[in-house]
Amino acid sequence: MTEREKQIPMAETGDEAERILVVDDDPSMRIALMETVKRLGYVVQGAADGTEALERMTRFRPWLVVTDLRMPRLTGLELIKEMKARAPQTAIVLMTAYGTIETAVEAMKLGASEYLLKPFSMDVLERVIMNLKAGREDGVGIGQSVHQVEHRALLSQDPGMVRLLSTIEGVASSQATVLIHGESGTGKELLARFIHLRSPRAHRPFIAVNCAALPDGLLESELFGHERGAFTGAVIRKVGKFEMAHTGTLLLDEISEMDLALQAKLLRVLQEREVDRIGGRDPVPVNIRVIATTNRILYREVEQGRFREDLYYRLNVFPVTVPPLRERLVDIPVLARHFVNQSAMRNGLTPPVLSDAALAHLQRLPWKGNVRELENVMERALLLAGQGPILPEHCPPERSEEVTIPLVRAIQPANGSLWEMERELIFKTLARVKDNRTHAAKELGISIRTLRNKLREYREGEHSASRTA
Ligand SMILES: Nc1ncnc2c1ncn2[C@@H]1O[C@H](COP(=O)(O)OP(=O)(O)OP(=O)(O)O)[C@@H](O)[C@H]1O
Ligand SMILES: [Mg+2]
Repeated sequence: MTEREKQIPMAETGDEAERILVVDDDPSMRIALMETVKRLGYVVQGAADGTEALERMTRFRPWLVVTDLRMPRLTGLELIKEMKARAPQTAIVLMTAYGTIETAVEAMKLGASEYLLKPFSMDVLERVIMNLKAGREDGVGIGQSVHQVEHRALLSQDPGMVRLLSTIEGVASSQATVLIHGESGTGKELLARFIHLRSPRAHRPFIAVNCAALPDGLLESELFGHERGAFTGAVIRKVGKFEMAHTGTLLLDEISEMDLALQAKLLRVLQEREVDRIGGRDPVPVNIRVIATTNRILYREVEQGRFREDLYYRLNVFPVTVPPLRERLVDIPVLARHFVNQSAMRNGLTPPVLSDAALAHLQRLPWKGNVRELENVMERALLLAGQGPILPEHCPPERSEEVTIPLVRAIQPANGSLWEMERELIFKTLARVKDNRTHAAKELGISIRTLRNKLREYREGEHSASRTA
């Protein structure tokens, strides 16, 4: 192409918002893609590799480029880099094969809007294009700056954590699914909100669903919603969390606790980008960015057959591990002061001095409950210290020993009282923590899985009891 051509300011083919460029070195794939795009009403052009794509872009000025990853001459990644430099507003959808998923992550970091895992149906491509288009028209553009007042700051001075945050800032602007792993109380949910607030969806809904807090059946209707009369008790129509999160971010908290049947349904939503309401007739298209958290090592769950491998790969696009508090001791003074000040403000008190001795003591504690525990400890320290400075004795850890309540196993309902006592204990605990199974399990000193099995056992017990009655 000549220098003169490069300077041509506008394309000659009408409105920019109607043009899409398809880049693939496989001619039959390229033609199929171009036909789909044309059917959607767009003006389309094709290119066989990155170099040709760049040449065409100058004249054609598409709003969207759909490109293959592996191509001769200029690869998809190089193309993205080049495009972001020349036309940063152009949206990019990347097509990638199973084996190149890591490169796809790289591409999202460079600013691709979406990726499609091959093979995909043309329906999926249609939906992705429609979602991107809708996002643009709503002003959810790429590179749009976001000014958001956060009422909860995420503080850290730990070099590893700071590095993690800056990487995350990069990925936040893409649509990439982020999988956050970390011990309980490390700040996973806070990090999820941080990502949302730094994404183009910041002014859109952020919807969190705790997959461990609800029994399986309820979780399904919570996520998918249901039509009126879909099942006994469904007296009104209920909008599911997927739909509520439309155009925004959905946080699937404690994803490892979702049962396998629901995992399959979730996978379908993530792949097809549409939701089937329980009892509904037509699927509802949804445009959501997903963030998931887990305090288990999810791959281990896959190996144990408790988590679907295909879903794992869908979620694990951008994996992040939040280090436990005991591995970032420099954060302890920062956070301790922050929590004391916050708590003082809430209680209308002047923030007290935090003594060096107290800080040294805090840095030696095991912090099994991580930042959440530190928050609680500092809140209590403020009250214990009265008006004076906070000293080591004001800061005992939450639980010096793990409290474990022995649970009765393998006793049949008919055998009576021990089983009953255990059941009562479990139900009382659940009621106290408002049905949050994670918290209940923690209080009871058992795993969520054990708790779930117990609850299932009770349900089954009830059914057989009502049958014999
Ligand atoms: N870096 C941080 N700066 C300020 N506050 C923090 C930070 N990390 C965590 N917190 C606070 O600690 C508490 C626990 O954080 P959060 O709920 O995000 O943890 P979590 O990893 O999701 O825990 P769980 O696994 O138990 O659900 C919250 O009140 C949060 O605001
Ligand atoms: Mg959480």
